[in-house]
Amino acid sequence: MGADTVSLESQYEESTWEHGRLYQKFAVEKSIYWVPIDEEEEERQNIEDDVLNGVFNNKLFFSDPPHNPNKVLDLGYGQAHWAITVAETYPDCEVTAIDIRPLDLPVYPPNLSLECDNLNNILTDVYPQDSFDIIQSRLVGPGIHKNRWPSYLAELRQLLAPTGTLQACEYYFNIQSHAGLLTPDSALTRWGTLYRRAMERLQRDPRMGNHLLPLCRSAGFAPLQVKYYELPIGSWPSDERQRQIGARMLENMDLMLESFGLWGLVKVLEMTVEEVKKLADDCRLEFKREEIKPYLPCSVVWGGKGLEGSAAGSASADAGLDSATTSGDETA
Ligand SMILES: C[S@@+](CC[C@H](N)C(=O)[O-])C[C@H]1O[C@@H](n2cnc3c(N)ncnc32)[C@H](O)[C@@H]1O
Repeated sequence: MGADTVSLESQYEESTWEHGRLYQKFAVEKSIYWVPIDEEEEERQNIEDDVLNGVFNNKLFFSDPPHNPNKVLDLGYGQAHWAITVAETYPDCEVTAIDIRPLDLPVYPPNLSLECDNLNNILTDVYPQDSFDIIQSRLVGPGIHKNRWPSYLAELRQLLAPTGTLQACEYYFNIQSHAGLLTPDSALTRWGTLYRRAMERLQRDPRMGNHLLPLCRSAGFAPLQVKYYELPIGSWPSDERQRQIGARMLENMDLMLESFGLWGLVKVLEMTVEEVKKLADDCRLEFKREEIKPYLPCSVVWGGKGLEGSAAGSASADAGLDSATTSGDETA
């Protein structure tokens, strides 16, 4: 290897500081993903995992009855909580997890393989077709090119075993108020508007939470189930469990305002770091006003490969998940 040649492995390891946060150099230089890789973002992902465990009642798989999977694929594994739990729960199952950012774990289950790859690349060239019992794609929207979604989902369908299930989950980045108290001038509305504008300029779809279902349908997944959640931000819900989820979600959002917002608002919309931090502080003040009852929309879609007798054909719309605002069943 020449002196100026950088190995693929070390490319993934390089990082760069921007506006006080640490980013994966490869991800930002190749226009893949613009969220930091520092301890603050790792902590945010840990909190987000807690939120989703609460919302999904600690269910790993949405299809019902639960699978006893042989092969599982996790796309954009983050801190690998889900992948590790699956591997530990099913020691005979081979779990493959992919992320653009390599994660060094001191110890991990022998049946878990962590791989470094870009989900915008063709996955069927690398991973075996017709083989995975469960494929999870959770909260990777900010890293997938908006035009990539149809081919991404089509490839996931090819990778799925004939009786397998895809489960996908994405936010719609638009903080809303249950009490109708947010106006276009509210900091929370402005943050959402600016973040979506920046993501659109970066060729990402910040409304993926709303687009997952039709995209999965077009990719041929069937029968499909969908649940739309309004994730409470703060301890405003009257229900105790929802209060707990809301309290954790508030911690998540508190960090997300800058983790997700900084790159786009500073580098793309040319705001100053101080302006973005001021906007984030104004959002935090609005989060404290519990009468606003803020929430973030999130959708979950799951379904089979669309072949006769596909596994998700037996999925119930309930599937043991926590209650959602709306759920749908396309089996009819
Ligand atoms: C918000 S975290 C979600 C982590 C995990 N899926 C979860 O739900 O807890 C998004 C993860 O997806 C990864 N990611 C985003 N875009 C990616 C891409 N194009 N290729 C590979 N990984 C990507 C990021 O590096 C990050 O670890």
